[in-house]
Amino acid sequence: MKRVYTRIAVGYIALVLLFLSPRYAGAETKKGLLVYDSIYSSTVEVAYWIKAIIGNEQPLDVKKIDQVITVKPYDYVIIGSYSKWEKPSPRIYKFVEQHAAELAKKQVCYFLTCGDMDETQILKAPGKEAHLIAGRNYLYDIMQKHPEIKPVVIGGFGGRQVMPALQGTDKFMTWMLEKLAKEGAPWVGLDIWESLDPARVEAFGNEVRVKVLGLEPLADVQKYRGFWNSLQPASLSDPSKVKYTPRPYTVHHSTEKIFYTRSRIKASLDDTIRMIQQWAQQEGFSLKEQRKTFFNTYYHAVKTIDGKERIIHIVVADLTEDPGNTHISFRSFDKPDVRKPLEDAIAKAEQLLWADGRKIEGR
Ligand SMILES: Cc1cc2nc3c(=O)[nH]c(=O)nc-3n(C[C@H](O)[C@H](O)[C@H](O)COP(=O)(O)O)c2cc1C
Repeated sequence: MKRVYTRIAVGYIALVLLFLSPRYAGAETKKGLLVYDSIYSSTVEVAYWIKAIIGNEQPLDVKKIDQVITVKPYDYVIIGSYSKWEKPSPRIYKFVEQHAAELAKKQVCYFLTCGDMDETQILKAPGKEAHLIAGRNYLYDIMQKHPEIKPVVIGGFGGRQVMPALQGTDKFMTWMLEKLAKEGAPWVGLDIWESLDPARVEAFGNEVRVKVLGLEPLADVQKYRGFWNSLQPASLSDPSKVKYTPRPYTVHHSTEKIFYTRSRIKASLDDTIRMIQQWAQQEGFSLKEQRKTFFNTYYHAVKTIDGKERIIHIVVADLTEDPGNTHISFRSFDKPDVRKPLEDAIAKAEQLLWADGRKIEGR
């Protein structure tokens, strides 16, 4: 008899829980806002592409930043921006500042379009310390300024610049940068600079589906590439126009201003870091961590040679579009006549990293 009562009680509780569950009440659908800022409209295309991946049936408002006065009605907010001078736009900073208290209570995701998307990249420009740039690195500053907002997903996709369309100061400053960049300015002579990697946008959209909405990732996610690929400017079919070629993963490059190598290996980020530490110890470099994120780490490998402290800039990174592999860049900004010992040390590091068939050739 007691058993029967227990069964009835359990059944009753299960029924009550079912009725109380948000799914049953029809309240499980989260309301989202995708707010973006854009000058030349490539970020607009990406915004609607992400909406399609998340699901056009999902309640997700897509709004340019000047259409938004509140984030209160939303369960989650996706904040997207172009990059300007290594950061999201000034209006995005203002928006986050203004709504910080509300955003801190919600699920937030950040994404960026940008020209530079190699997250192993170090920029050394006159008057500035060498520092990490590109892709998700550009979100570091805003995330530091607002630690109360803990983004669930972040993305830095690359983007597009239609060079002849640049206006006023944008044109002038881009020209200035050409003159200053140590590694050259790959946009010179181009009609279209287009670096966006569609796989990054797709991975971002799918992460939002899974982590924010509790949905399955979209299996045939590539079907929405039409939001980006069009007869022009994206899939440029006019042979008289010059378009950017994506940066290769494997580079070996030595000029008056820089020694730079980049490669990728079949290994986890942690294992790669362990190998770098082992190499530093063997070669007598002290490894000073400059920045660590969940997707990359930047080190100075420092050694005194002929009475002067020399630095090898090392970045190891896990790129969204190449899961399971780690990308590593080494740079010396010293002049060729003094950097030979650094070049030899880099060659030894690569020997270790590439051993046992870990090196991945190509691209
Ligand atoms: C004035 C100016 C500065 C830029 N600065 C950077 C930068 O520091 N780093 C970067 O990766 N891309 C930079 N970009 C590239 C843009 O972020 C990229 O082309 C983006 O896709 C533009 O978005 P939009 O078409 O929505 O305006 C800059 C573009 C302009 C016009």
